[in-house]
Amino acid sequence: MNYQLLALCPDELKGVVAKELESLGATETKEAYRAVYFSVSERDYYRVHLRARTPSTFIRVLKSFGKVSVRGVFNLAGKVAWSDVFTSKKTYRIDANIAERGEEFPSSNEFSRQVRLAIEAHFKKNDLEIPNVSVKEPQVVITAFYAKGTLVLGVNTSKHSLHKRGYRLDGHPAPIKETMASALLDMMGYDGTTAFLDPMCGSGTIAIEACYKALNKACHIHRKKGLFGFEHLKDFNSELWRTLQDEAREEREETPKHPICASDINASYVDLASKNALRARVEKYMKLETASLFDIDKPAPSGIMLTNMPYGERLWTEEDFLDFYKKVGDHLKQKFTGWKIGLFVAEDSPWKFIGLKPTRKISLLNGSIKTKLLIFEIYEGSKRINLG
Ligand SMILES: C[S@@+](CC[C@H](N)C(=O)[O-])C[C@H]1O[C@@H](n2cnc3c(N)ncnc32)[C@H](O)[C@@H]1O
Repeated sequence: MNYQLLALCPDELKGVVAKELESLGATETKEAYRAVYFSVSERDYYRVHLRARTPSTFIRVLKSFGKVSVRGVFNLAGKVAWSDVFTSKKTYRIDANIAERGEEFPSSNEFSRQVRLAIEAHFKKNDLEIPNVSVKEPQVVITAFYAKGTLVLGVNTSKHSLHKRGYRLDGHPAPIKETMASALLDMMGYDGTTAFLDPMCGSGTIAIEACYKALNKACHIHRKKGLFGFEHLKDFNSELWRTLQDEAREEREETPKHPICASDINASYVDLASKNALRARVEKYMKLETASLFDIDKPAPSGIMLTNMPYGERLWTEEDFLDFYKKVGDHLKQKFTGWKIGLFVAEDSPWKFIGLKPTRKISLLNGSIKTKLLIFEIYEGSKRINLG
């Protein structure tokens, strides 16, 4: 039996997400609004939850309907055999989301009320106890999504957002999401077969995700029991889930084949990165140091650098900001011949002052901030460009 799922992700990451899912066995991938539809076998259903690094949420589709009107929601939601999905003993919540409200479409509250009434009617009709709703800590999260006359009823099988790998402590003002860090690594073509460096690592997210890739480590192997939504569903195959977790431990590489280095000018962030690496159980594989980028040399003749440029430091003037970006360009050109460099920058930062010609510019949204991944190949004789 195959499962139909939706992987939610930022719109610009759909291609990366679809490719990753296909590498994990997904078929029939199809891009939709901020999501990728796909189909998987039971085995790969569990494998994608354990291993997928780039999507933020998985929704298992229970039923979808076209040409839906408000009056139809209760009846259509009644077509799902809810007691086959979860038992009366489980608590649940409905996350209702209306992406495009048609003329007659009601509030999200009314929308979720119609679905809840249909769930209650189903349990009642089958002489079963009606399950309790828990808004704060439900075991099962039902999703009801409406856009352009289409209603999709599903269940959130990841439940806790997939960027929550469980290793990151608070303490950095601008950490990048783990899912975005991992997608950027994919865009850079990093697969552990070259040296890696993040010289402005902050809390260490990008380098930790690089370790996961290089080690072929399943990014959710340390997620605590009960935190995935699928564990609370009636068809949860705990034996298969345990087998796949054991397999993932066996498939993990002993050690990365090439160095993974990270540094930051701020010693307290390096300390935080070290704690996070320890929590992610990759501390042995990462070389961490406190240093300015301008004192860092390439750790190998060739490799991949990926870093999240500062959005502006406290006490920086506009001039300091421009000067910093210019100095970064100079340093990379002088010291990183043979390297492929990815700089993740805010669109409104003075990135043009880096003064090197990117081979690729990819526009992305980091939360609500417009950003770009600038990719440079530094070779002998790379020229600074005229800023005009
Ligand atoms: C946007 S943050 C990086 C956040 C990081 N990706 C994370 O997930 O936590 C930029 C980092 O650049 C560091 N930084 C600023 N100037 C630097 C310099 N000259 N050399 C090295 N790091 C620097 C800051 O301390 C800050 O942690």
